[in-house]
Amino acid sequence: MCLPALVAAWFPDNVTSVAIRGVHGPVHMPLLGLGTWQYNDSRSEDAILAAFKLGYRHVDTASVYANGVGVGRALKKTGVKREEFFVTSKLAIGLNVSATVQAMYQNLKDLQLDYVDLMLIHIPPTGAQARQDQWKVLEQFAKAGKAKAIGVSHFCKRQLQDILSIATVPVAVNQVQYHVGMGIASDMATDYKTWIQSQGILYQSFSPLCGPCNATNGDQMALKTGALVTGIGKKYNKTGAQVALKWLVQQGIPAIPKSSNPKHLSEDINIFDFKLSDDDMATLTSATVPPVGGGPSPQDSGDCGMEEVLV
Ligand SMILES: NC(=O)c1ccc[n+]([C@@H]2O[C@H](COP(=O)([O-])OP(=O)(O)OC[C@H]3O[C@@H](n4cnc5c(N)ncnc54)[C@H](OP(=O)(O)O)[C@@H]3O)[C@@H](O)[C@H]2O)c1
Ligand SMILES: *[C@@H]1O[C@H](CO)[C@@H](O)[C@H](O)[C@H]1NC(C)=O
Ligand SMILES: *[C@@H]1O[C@H](CO)[C@@H](O)[C@H](O)[C@H]1NC(C)=O
Ligand SMILES: *[C@@H]1O[C@H](CO)[C@@H](O)[C@H](O)[C@H]1NC(C)=O
Ligand SMILES: *[C@@H]1O[C@H](CO)[C@@H](O)[C@H](O)[C@H]1NC(C)=O
Repeated sequence: MCLPALVAAWFPDNVTSVAIRGVHGPVHMPLLGLGTWQYNDSRSEDAILAAFKLGYRHVDTASVYANGVGVGRALKKTGVKREEFFVTSKLAIGLNVSATVQAMYQNLKDLQLDYVDLMLIHIPPTGAQARQDQWKVLEQFAKAGKAKAIGVSHFCKRQLQDILSIATVPVAVNQVQYHVGMGIASDMATDYKTWIQSQGILYQSFSPLCGPCNATNGDQMALKTGALVTGIGKKYNKTGAQVALKWLVQQGIPAIPKSSNPKHLSEDINIFDFKLSDDDMATLTSATVPPVGGGPSPQDSGDCGMEEVLV
């Protein structure tokens, strides 16, 4: 197995990061970042400004989130030097190759950045050829110095193999839904986590707090107020959300929780001053609730069932 090494790098002492495979060698991704899905420009701007004051140096956005202008405005306002923060963005969804390229450059312009640290294919395009075409577009972008590293999101094993067979730049990351409750889900449901890691591809979690999970049956709150995470948290004087996030980062899996609540933002990054015991890690790993939410069910083929359709 080839898990990325934990490195302190040049991020502030209290922020731990992992190395991912960039175009010109390792790039350091802070283990804890800020998500921005469903946030508009002004909400993204406010959340990022508050988060950076608390020490966040990692933001996750995407063309389709349509908040690049707000994210860019915030990143300028923080005054933090470019090389000291990490930005992930993702390709537009459902466009042809030329429109995808155009959208990628527009996204960079919106962000007011010369480069992003990581650019991902947001959702697997339908068919091996389309996947490979989009990857080639991404490689050109990276080789032009516009992304330090490139990767994918929602890709299962066979979809990744299409990319690996033609890639001339490392596939740095696969960003997929992963949180407490999915630890022992089948390899299908977790998109072949072990295999992905064996390829030197960093397995990154999205929706670490089960954001899109079922609000009616309690799944959406299970990783914040649920008995499992809050019970373990009491031992460490930490909240349920902090335990859920720590379970990920303690495995070297970067997490990008989203919040615009200052108290939550502070909680979410203050997880580097304690360590979960092996027993508590094992208990969290064995949980089967909440399952993957808002996407393919753990019973079917996981993200293999998810494909982008040209619009
Ligand atoms: N690649 C993809 O296709 C993909 C898909 C989904 C998500 N993502 C990325 O992953 C990010 C995170 O996932 P997500 O947005 O789905 O949801 P999430 O981070 O799992 O959960 C967000 C929710 O948790 C709450 N929360 C955050 N910290 C909390 C705390 N300490 N205590 C209690 N509640 C807390 C937030 O509410 P408050 O504002 O009230 O704190 C928010 O409602 C996204 O924003 C996006 O950047 C990527
Ligand atoms: C952005 O989102 C915030 C919070 O949901 C909302 O109050 C605000 O009106 C939105 N702004 C625009 C321009 O839609
Ligand atoms: C790609 O899509 C754009 C925008 O929809 C369209 O203007 C253009 O003609 C398309 N190009 C090809 C080669 O289909
Ligand atoms: C959410 O949970 C409720 C209550 O158990 C259930 O009726 C509903 O079908 C669930 N929704 C989804 C999308 O699974
Ligand atoms: C528990 O954590 C809270 C919030 O971080 C802090 O204010 C409090 O002092 C801590 N209590 C103990 C006993 O460490």
